[in-house]
Amino acid sequence: MKNIGILFSGRGSNFEAIARNVADGKIPARIALVISNREQAPGLEHARAMGLKTLFIPAKGKDREAYDREVVAALKEAQVDLVCLAGFMRLLSPYFVRAFPGRILNIHPALLPAFPGLDAQQQALDYGVKFTGCTVHIVDEGMDTGPIVRQAVVPILDDDTVETLSARILAEEHRIYSEAVCLMIKDKVRIERRRVLLKP
Ligand code: GRF
Repeated sequence: MKNIGILFSGRGSNFEAIARNVADGKIPARIALVISNREQAPGLEHARAMGLKTLFIPAKGKDREAYDREVVAALKEAQVDLVCLAGFMRLLSPYFVRAFPGRILNIHPALLPAFPGLDAQQQALDYGVKFTGCTVHIVDEGMDTGPIVRQAVVPILDDDTVETLSARILAEEHRIYSEAVCLMIKDKVRIERRRVLLKP
């Protein structure tokens, strides 16, 4: 059975969606470790209530790589095979990315490469696009630049606010993140240049 490590900074609804699918046997893996850089992250409370092993690793006073070395050590100790970033509001150092090559996933609330970085839903509204969505990608050393595993499209309605749009995108995030985790855990994908393709 493969081990998943999940990192987040806040609400943790993507974490919860994955955890539910793991508990239901839809994702054939174990959540070996949950890590947050924020002690008050609501997701941590949920993870503890589910009986999962949790760690709060504070970043204060540490440079990026020193912090990442701590996180990587914890993930390795828990024998994590796949790392899932689920609203983890920190850029990973090259050290972290190289410690889990091709084995870190991230979810982004836009159709990458459009609207990378913060406030992607607001960026989409401001730009005036008619469709946006969400993307699950493999993490490389850039910001929101890695090979794309799954995307879902969400239309933007005339009366959308950032809240209503974010809520509709979030529902799709919960669906495609678990699909992507499943593909990775079952070793179903191969990467050809930037393209993530299904193995025959
Ligand atoms: C999601 O919108 C995700 O796409 C972004 O951060 C948000 C996290 O939400 N990376 P939650 O903590 O999973 O509820």
